[in-house]
Amino acid sequence: MQTILITGAGTGLGKELALIYAQKGNTVILAGRRIEPLESVKQEILSEGGEAFTYQLDISNLESVKRTVGKITAKHDVTYLVNNAGTGCFGPLTELSHEEIMTAIQTNVLGTIFLTKELIPYLLKHGGSKIMNIISTAGQKGKVNESVYVASKFAVRGFTESLQKELEDKVHVVATYMGGMDTPFWDETNHIKDKSRLRSPREVAEIIVSRDGELEIHV
Ligand SMILES: NC(=O)c1ccc[n+]([C@@H]2O[C@H](COP(=O)([O-])OP(=O)(O)OC[C@H]3O[C@@H](n4cnc5c(N)ncnc54)[C@H](OP(=O)(O)O)[C@@H]3O)[C@@H](O)[C@H]2O)c1
Repeated sequence: MQTILITGAGTGLGKELALIYAQKGNTVILAGRRIEPLESVKQEILSEGGEAFTYQLDISNLESVKRTVGKITAKHDVTYLVNNAGTGCFGPLTELSHEEIMTAIQTNVLGTIFLTKELIPYLLKHGGSKIMNIISTAGQKGKVNESVYVASKFAVRGFTESLQKELEDKVHVVATYMGGMDTPFWDETNHIKDKSRLRSPREVAEIIVSRDGELEIHV
């Protein structure tokens, strides 16, 4: 069994991954900026007899990453990091504010890199440790009105593929690519007209968990 740190675990795909991994007997550490959704997922896991802990974490803030990794590693032997937290950034490039662009890059790219860098020394203490990066089909091809989001996910793809080589035989690093899901991710944008037509995060999470021994997962 693993001790799994999942970012963005209060909602959407991260929540579903946390519920499934906990049902399989793993200990899950739920992280994100808002504590209320994390606590609600934790209660659901505890009520099913599973084990879960919550930690407030803003991956885009290096101080928060260092402080929270310190707290987590003082109490838990983390063997698996799921970099799921991410944010959208949609619209024609000329209409995006610098703040929107900064937030997307800071969260999706720097956040993923900061947290992974801080946690790798702990993951290396155990044989069989894993990292899973939730990317997107946006990490595979360009899309209209998604230039910054796509740029951020191409960056995570490059980061992931490089770590697969750098940590070969030490940490199993998984790249995960999926299309649209019906999650709160789309709540602040009209980029997608009807998100209810997208796949459920539960369905996607079940496929990911059933295949997470692979290096690349396309859902
Ligand atoms: N939905 C889709 O169509 C789709 C498709 C392909 C890939 N993805 C990717 O799937 C992942 C999960 O997204 P989702 O669809 O499940 O959306 P979501 O429900 O909005 O989940 C994103 C999670 O990330 C957390 N988060 C955002 N910024 C953060 C930060 N700075 N620090 C820590 N946590 C942060 C949010 O919680 P807080 O706000 O509480 O921090 C939220 O729980 C993302 O990486 C996304 O890019 C989504």
